[in-house]
Amino acid sequence: MNPFEIGYYHDEELKTFGFRSLGKNVKISKNCNIVGLSNISIGNNVIIDSFCCIIASGKDAWLKLGSHVHIGGYCHILANGGVEIKDFSGLSQGVKLYSKSDDYSGKSLTNSTIPEKYKNIQKGKITLNEHVIIGANSIILPNVTIDTGVSVGALSLVATNLESWNIYFGNPLKRLGKKSEGLLQKKMEFLKEWEDKK
Ligand SMILES: CC(C)(COP(=O)(O)OP(=O)(O)OC[C@H]1O[C@@H](n2cnc3c(N)ncnc32)[C@H](O)[C@@H]1OP(=O)(O)O)[C@@H](O)C(=O)NCCC(=O)NCCS
Repeated sequence: MNPFEIGYYHDEELKTFGFRSLGKNVKISKNCNIVGLSNISIGNNVIIDSFCCIIASGKDAWLKLGSHVHIGGYCHILANGGVEIKDFSGLSQGVKLYSKSDDYSGKSLTNSTIPEKYKNIQKGKITLNEHVIIGANSIILPNVTIDTGVSVGALSLVATNLESWNIYFGNPLKRLGKKSEGLLQKKMEFLKEWEDKK
């Protein structure tokens, strides 16, 4: 046995933890920090890797992961304003999704030690539609919808909605160009194999 390999929780154990809903073939690394399980729904064939921090507790918090979704190691998902990641989408290592953020203008107090009435919290749902991939260490701010088939390059800051089947990168964010839709054919092949296995 390798003592450095912390391992994953699998379906049978995960079922007993109190998620809102849980599909089949879900693997969650044992060293994640996940709060608010009753507000979290997870589809089929999902992997959440080591050192992820997922906060889905408190008023308005919810997280919905579709099927065939991967959350890479060291991701941070703050789901207080709602976060949805649809089928075949994923986060590379170190991505941060903030559906809730402090007011940085100086007009109100900030940070988690302060009661909400002294703060001007910006809260809004983040949606990643199907076939979205977010590159390592990128940050997504509240109220953003990333439409179907978008790729976001590493180290990007996303504060606005992104249009389907495009590749974006950087800070400030730029559109690099159109993305191939060739993966849709692969998806049909993959789903056929997946259904056959069940
Ligand atoms: C955005 C990305 C997909 C573009 O790849 P590509 O189409 O091969 O693009 P290129 O490498 O030809 O780069 C095109 C230009 O954009 C710049 N660029 C590419 N990615 C960038 C990024 N993430 N941030 C800033 N600039 C970037 C390049 O420097 C290059 O600039 P130039 O034309 O002035 O020389 C890729 O660079 C990327 O960021 N991938 C994410 C990888 C990742 O996070 N993997 C984690 C494990 S899955």
